[in-house]
Amino acid sequence: MLSLILEIFENSQFNLNTIIILLLTIIFAFAFAKFLSDDEPIEFPVPVPIEAKPGWINGKVLDKPNIKDPQNSGYIVCYDPATGQLLSNIRAHTEQDVIEALKKARKAQKEWAKTTFKERKKVLKSLLNFIVKNQEEICWVSCRDTGKSLVDAKMGEILVTCERIKWTMKKGEKALSPQYHESSMLLFYKIAKIEFEPLGVVAALVSWNYPFHNIIGPIISALFAGNGIIVKASEQVAWSLQYYSKIVKVCLKSCGHDPDIVQFLCGFADCGEALVKSGVDGITLIGSPQVGKQVMSSSSTTLTPCTLELGGKDCAILRQDVNLSKIIPIVLRGVFQNAGQNCIGLERILVHESIYDKFVKMVELRVKELRVGCALNDEEGVDVGALTTSDQIDRLSTLIKSTVSQGAKLLYGGYPFIHPLYPTAHYYTPTLLIDVTPEMPISQTEHFGPIMVVMKFRTDDEAIEIANSSGYGLGNSVFTKDQRRGEWMARRLRSGMVNINDFGASYICNLPFGGVGISGFGRFGGIEGLRQQCLMKSITLDRFPWLLQTSIPKMLDYPIHFRGSMFVSNLVKAVYENRLLYKVKGIIKLD
Ligand SMILES: *[C@@H]1O[C@H](CO)[C@@H](O)[C@H](O)[C@H]1NC(C)=O
Ligand SMILES: *[C@@H]1O[C@H](CO)[C@@H](O)[C@H](O)[C@H]1NC(C)=O
Repeated sequence: MLSLILEIFENSQFNLNTIIILLLTIIFAFAFAKFLSDDEPIEFPVPVPIEAKPGWINGKVLDKPNIKDPQNSGYIVCYDPATGQLLSNIRAHTEQDVIEALKKARKAQKEWAKTTFKERKKVLKSLLNFIVKNQEEICWVSCRDTGKSLVDAKMGEILVTCERIKWTMKKGEKALSPQYHESSMLLFYKIAKIEFEPLGVVAALVSWNYPFHNIIGPIISALFAGNGIIVKASEQVAWSLQYYSKIVKVCLKSCGHDPDIVQFLCGFADCGEALVKSGVDGITLIGSPQVGKQVMSSSSTTLTPCTLELGGKDCAILRQDVNLSKIIPIVLRGVFQNAGQNCIGLERILVHESIYDKFVKMVELRVKELRVGCALNDEEGVDVGALTTSDQIDRLSTLIKSTVSQGAKLLYGGYPFIHPLYPTAHYYTPTLLIDVTPEMPISQTEHFGPIMVVMKFRTDDEAIEIANSSGYGLGNSVFTKDQRRGEWMARRLRSGMVNINDFGASYICNLPFGGVGISGFGRFGGIEGLRQQCLMKSITLDRFPWLLQTSIPKMLDYPIHFRGSMFVSNLVKAVYENRLLYKVKGIIKLD
């Protein structure tokens, strides 16, 4: 290259213009190449644990699988709930780890806050690229740790995470750019705007039902807003956290950033409590109302703001005009997705009396056909996976029994499912419970299991009343051919989200996610969720700094002139008086 340029210089046939054009071309080529390479995601490898491979059967099968071992209380017993095989014993993090994590994240956040949106997008792009290319492996790890089916993992872990990343890359910068507002007529010479600054280091305490999505979701928003984040996963998914945390850390490192900006913790209640009290700058909890109360109470000592997502008792309301064959597949997915362990799962199916018997008959056939089993080890397909935690089986059976004792009818299930190869694993038979009424226990508590609860209603008003009566208020679905009636009902339902003729659609559409009542408050997802990760700072500036700057009229300067109070009265009239004559009088008297 150099010799070529020298040759050009020596060759008298080339004039200066040619040389300049040549040099400019080279400069542009370099800049363009850099632009292109900047836009490419960074590739990075993260080995997947051997235990995640489908068909893995080398683990010791536990007699009574349980996350806690009284002999070894500082450790978490990680096992596959769909087979009962031991995965590993992992040390539970404690208060000391929390303090250490916060210190590291605080240090790294100082640098991270200086990064541009372009740099943050590059991290997200690289992460998205990894997820798309390694979706099978990510799902295997989730299935092994939670017992869920492969389709549930693909939808609940991969698809929703990819959508969240894509949205944040596309719309996040605009959402966090300064927002200009109209200033007051009184202060017309001021510019009024909001800037979105990082909060600092935030914490997310997340549930076990979607171990990948639940940890990556808060990380996407926190990092994009310029925050550091400490994620505390549930002890139930300590094993998968090891792989998932590595993905995030390696991604950050490969993109040239300090991986300390994201900290991962996994421990029991004491670890969560220590994190809430640690002095982080914001808390997001995905959990139950009971844990929500504890978090709010603990965070009150430091007045740390919380976003609480505490589950729901979502209804599907089936009006008389629906086409049952069309909507039953949506309802089944809403009920049995992730074996019912889904905060926006359809926990109550409200069916109009005119189609009630037909619905029950149609759905009974389908529920009986559902195949229960281990997604990774069973040869034939699986519709409903295992329950993730060991205490759920007895809880569900008790809940069903007490509901039946009050008059509900159990058409199918209501007992654990014993897997022929893995008798110690946690499975529950898909259950169909009909003729349930609003006072029964299962109408008031989130059951979080593979149970279809069917209730009858006569009028739209009655359906709304039933839906409103649980205390929860996360989401609801209304199924009807009458779109206007659907909207009318949506306005009357007491919940943070309503989907007409669908289930979970608002989440995929990047609308804010959250509820009212004991479902909690605050939002994540979408513009509103992203901004909630920020310090919303209101700023005013001079609009014409060279011309007009704020000055206090002499009459109001201290010591205040005896006519000062009169002056303010006239000012109020001049600006706010509705009647023109008095308004003009006010203006005239302003002297
Ligand atoms: C109901 O939906 C099914 C499945 O989509 C369709 O085949 C059928 O024609 C529909 N029935 C009516 C009455 O629209
Ligand atoms: C349901 O709750 C909403 C919101 O609180 C309220 O406006 C509506 O009147 C309630 N409807 C019924 C029937 O309880």
